[in-house]
Amino acid sequence: MAKQWQGVISEYIDRLDIDKNTPIITLGEGGTPLVHAPALAKLVGAQDVWLKVEGMNPTGSFKDRGMTMAVTKAVAHGAKAVICASTGNTSASAAAYAAKAGIKSVVLIPEGKITLGKLAQAIAHKAVILQVRGNFDDCLVLARDLSENYAVHLVNSVNPDRLEGQKTASFEVFDYLGFAPDYHVMPVGNAGNYSAYFKGYKELQRDGFISTLPKQLGFQAAGSAPFVAGHPIANPETIATAIRIGNPASWDLAINAREESNGEFDSVTDEEILSMHRYLSNEIGVFVEPSSATGAAGLLKFAKAGKVPSDAKIVITVTGHGLKDVGWALKDENGEEVKPTSCSKDASEVADLLGLEKN
Ligand code: F0G
Repeated sequence: MAKQWQGVISEYIDRLDIDKNTPIITLGEGGTPLVHAPALAKLVGAQDVWLKVEGMNPTGSFKDRGMTMAVTKAVAHGAKAVICASTGNTSASAAAYAAKAGIKSVVLIPEGKITLGKLAQAIAHKAVILQVRGNFDDCLVLARDLSENYAVHLVNSVNPDRLEGQKTASFEVFDYLGFAPDYHVMPVGNAGNYSAYFKGYKELQRDGFISTLPKQLGFQAAGSAPFVAGHPIANPETIATAIRIGNPASWDLAINAREESNGEFDSVTDEEILSMHRYLSNEIGVFVEPSSATGAAGLLKFAKAGKVPSDAKIVITVTGHGLKDVGWALKDENGEEVKPTSCSKDASEVADLLGLEKN
């Protein structure tokens, strides 16, 4: 019988900071595909490009890797409720894992700024949802405040259990390829994921599996790019709502990761994000939410600037599933709504419509 993937805690228990007897709360997260993308490699002039498709996690984003650890540990510590601030994916994940654990979840979201798909997930998993009149950064301040003063456990990535779980993505990349890529590219919001990948690669290096760390390239949306500005942004704006964050929680960890990995932060415009979002689904067959295309969009920007070596092996993490934010996919490149053509049930009429030749 085929072995089913057991979730990141069971699969990597020896490399995670967790007591082996702790009851694990899992939905089978991790083990996501690394999709080889030769067409994208050609587009950016690199030797090889793979997409780490994190939308294949149980709730459709990479957050599940960290959430299994955070909720497992919260329950082990006796928590009866978890809380998070979120641009949508963390809340979907927290709500699902809390439902599995049989505890309450409270999610704080910026009013009007999360996608319907993500809101539906939080509702489906019966989270208590509060829309805060403010942005994500305000939500996080509020979540931290409540968790410090009331009986509710914080599961944002400022909780180290989250990064501990998310580092398993680096292990999977190495386990699959048998080497570490020259570059690892991803979108950056709070920079928790960027910091978690670095943690994973550092441990692989410490344990003698790899000698050189991948250069980590982190990309932000131009209207929401505090790492590029070098300071927090008061009013971040971008269509990439998942990464609409002005004051990243993992600032110091991320700066250290960039320095030690010899990496870079840069930004891309909303137009570049949407164009890459379309390219990935049209040409590669991978449907991601717009925010998740930010890394690949950044790599293309680097390629145009002559910054991608022709012998480079590159992994790009695409962080969340396209079904979470379908609005952009339903429009063409001119912003017009795409409507399927209506047709009769007659084969010859339909063949005419399709321009099919008779055999
Ligand atoms: N991509 C997606 C789809 C995300 O949802 C997020 C973060 C990121 C990238 C950036 O990751 O914050 O670790 O740098 N979403 C958070 C949330 C903030 O609440 O769902 P990061």
